[in-house]
Amino acid sequence: MTELEQFAAPGSEWWRSAVIYQIYPRSFADASGDGIGDLPGVTSRLDSLQDLGIDAIWLSPFMTSPQKDAGYDVADYRDVDPLFGTLADFDTMLAAAHARGIRVIVDLVPNHSSDQHVWFQQALKAAPGSPERARYIFRDGKGENGEIPPNNWESVFGGGQWTRITEPDGTPGQWYLHIFDPSQPDFDWTNEEVREEFRGVLRFWLDRGVDGFRVDVAHGMIKADGLPDYTPPSESDSMGGGEDDVPYWGQEGVHDIYRDWHKVLAEYDGDRALCGEAWLPTLKKTALWVRPDEMHQTFNFPYMMTEWDAEKVRGVIRDSLEEFGKVGAPSTWVLSNHDVIRHASRLALTADSPQGDGIGPKSAGKPDEATGLARARAATTIMLALPGSSYLYQGEELGLPEAMEIPDEFRQDPTWFRTNGERYGRDGCRVPIPWEADAAAYGFNTTGDSWLPQPEEWSRFARDVEEADPASTLHMYKTLLGMRREFELGNGSLVWEDLGESAIAFRRGDVYVVANLGAEPLELGDDVTFITQSQRFDGTAVPTDHAAWYTKN
Ligand code: GLC
Repeated sequence: MTELEQFAAPGSEWWRSAVIYQIYPRSFADASGDGIGDLPGVTSRLDSLQDLGIDAIWLSPFMTSPQKDAGYDVADYRDVDPLFGTLADFDTMLAAAHARGIRVIVDLVPNHSSDQHVWFQQALKAAPGSPERARYIFRDGKGENGEIPPNNWESVFGGGQWTRITEPDGTPGQWYLHIFDPSQPDFDWTNEEVREEFRGVLRFWLDRGVDGFRVDVAHGMIKADGLPDYTPPSESDSMGGGEDDVPYWGQEGVHDIYRDWHKVLAEYDGDRALCGEAWLPTLKKTALWVRPDEMHQTFNFPYMMTEWDAEKVRGVIRDSLEEFGKVGAPSTWVLSNHDVIRHASRLALTADSPQGDGIGPKSAGKPDEATGLARARAATTIMLALPGSSYLYQGEELGLPEAMEIPDEFRQDPTWFRTNGERYGRDGCRVPIPWEADAAAYGFNTTGDSWLPQPEEWSRFARDVEEADPASTLHMYKTLLGMRREFELGNGSLVWEDLGESAIAFRRGDVYVVANLGAEPLELGDDVTFITQSQRFDGTAVPTDHAAWYTKN
């Protein structure tokens, strides 16, 4: 039995233990009725989030954007896209959240801008070698006429990372780099002008009162000198690169940027925080993002991507506490977000599910819904008992599965287009969430429009239906969040218990936590009093794919 201390957190550092709810604005609530969610929609539904019991929200991008990658292609970092409302709507939302004791984190997308950003438009008009081009990564092509891209890097969304432009005089010209879509040119972060611009962007939102930033692609901003060729070991490693040293992921230079930002945030009162989105293959590497003078949190993706196997889950929890503990940081647990298959479906998949590979009508091996939901509820029951911070993704509190039958003509993820339909992409986890079973668009708006079609059977998952059912996933989340607060489980130490190979079992103070991943029921003995169960069961034997919190008499 080992005891793992997860730092005794100074009370003011709220991000060490906070439960943060991700809002994907286009799919949360749509006040304007145009079929795409917006900021007034968020404001209108804040009461339900307060009632759920979360500490903070993170909003995916709502800044001015042509929406080529659902807002992760920003054209103006200091304004709200009209699709989502106005800066005044943002201020109203922020004040309304703060009035309810909910902190607000916004998404910052610094690796690349939209190709419609004024800087990129200026770069296209300027000459090779000009200061305008130097804000992005422009290079001459190889070959006699520069017709071969400068290197062989593959885009995360499929295809190459380089696009050739036509120079202002009409001749075929230089190439520019984009790790993602061609509409998302990468900035050159070795350029001081870029750095200064983003300090300004940080200050713009900090001055408005945000509590922090989720930093998009926080491992990609610096590229290796000379941009050497690189071939990933497999397509599934497109976001992390396995164990290799990848010339565009996790380069040492990114850490200087975060040290700089750390100082900017520290100028402000109120404990502002940075959370990195860094897809790194190991926990050791991941923990580098949260050294004391860098970011405050970074998503624990190795945990998220661990399959439903007791030994593996125990292992990743143990290693996480150890590696993050070494740098004095909390682990930031997460099971779902807008880039991966929802965990109510993913945990019932047998094969690997790399980022970007959604499930579609033609996929083989669809996950079983009941198995997925049981596992998801058990996994969340474990996660919310772990020391550290946790992120929830909108809709998971309803037990929403991945939408697997979206007709092709509605698909919007660039991955779908860039791979000519080979990969379904991420639309299946982005469908607008259901609020009321009998309302138009399930209460997402009043017009019935929805940018992605909502599955017919989703009335079962509507919030009002789950509200009325004490056995629902929604009530499970509320109970877990309430009890987590009551027992102060966000901080402190974890002691492993040995309940056999197929169990995940540990103690948090007086609270015992167990999940049974084996085929047989797991008997706990008759001296237990249950605090809560992932799904109701009688007696003291935990059924397969169930979890519980309990005390011992
Ligand atoms: C991050 C975002 C993802 C986006 C990509 C490019 O991974 O989470 O949604 O497509 O960055 O910005």
